[in-house]
Amino acid sequence: MLKTKIAVLISGGGTNLQAIIDFQKAGGLKSGEVVLVVSDNPDAYGLTRAENAGIETKVVLADKSLPVSERRVKFEEELQKTLEDAGIELIILAGFMRILNKSFTDKWPERIINVHPSLIPSFCGEGFYGLKVHEAALAYGVKVTGATVHFVNEVPDGGRIIFQKAVEIKEGDTPEVLQKRVMEEAEWKLLPAAAEHVSKIIMGEK
Ligand code: GAR
Repeated sequence: MLKTKIAVLISGGGTNLQAIIDFQKAGGLKSGEVVLVVSDNPDAYGLTRAENAGIETKVVLADKSLPVSERRVKFEEELQKTLEDAGIELIILAGFMRILNKSFTDKWPERIINVHPSLIPSFCGEGFYGLKVHEAALAYGVKVTGATVHFVNEVPDGGRIIFQKAVEIKEGDTPEVLQKRVMEEAEWKLLPAAAEHVSKIIMGEK
């Protein structure tokens, strides 16, 4: 049977993308294949990671000359076309720092997954991304945090949860130290596993 065609969307360093690439190389991604990496940032190091792995890359830019709402719609139209042209069946948001409109997410029901660096519903939603999530967890004083992989719908970080893993917060943690621990102990394991889990479901439906 044909493997599920996956696009990974990134905005930055792409360590989660790297975890998926490594998992694929090790033969763990049995039901899917990453065929495209899309970035909204031309300087994202994740693009280099994709090129090094021989994966096609595309940059889709938001047109800053347009008003915000129009800018989002235009961006999503171009993104949709890019994904359709490549025959994509599953979208993985791996450090993609952009909220997607309902008009976009409705086209991909249970076909978009995202990794978020906290235990949803804590420290999530609009404004909670990257280091800010860990800053908020430390400021609140929680003793346990973690990561969540979930389906994406129109509610930021609001879709059905697929996998979650808890990570201990230690005395003296800085946001950077905590971010690294959450990535190593949770994100880099959960996201590749979820990529396989959902790819397998899609493959079974073909
Ligand atoms: C990761 O920690 C990811 O969970 C987070 O940004 C980082 C990206 O790192 N995503 C969000 O906060 C989304 N709300 P990476 O580019 O090295 O994978």
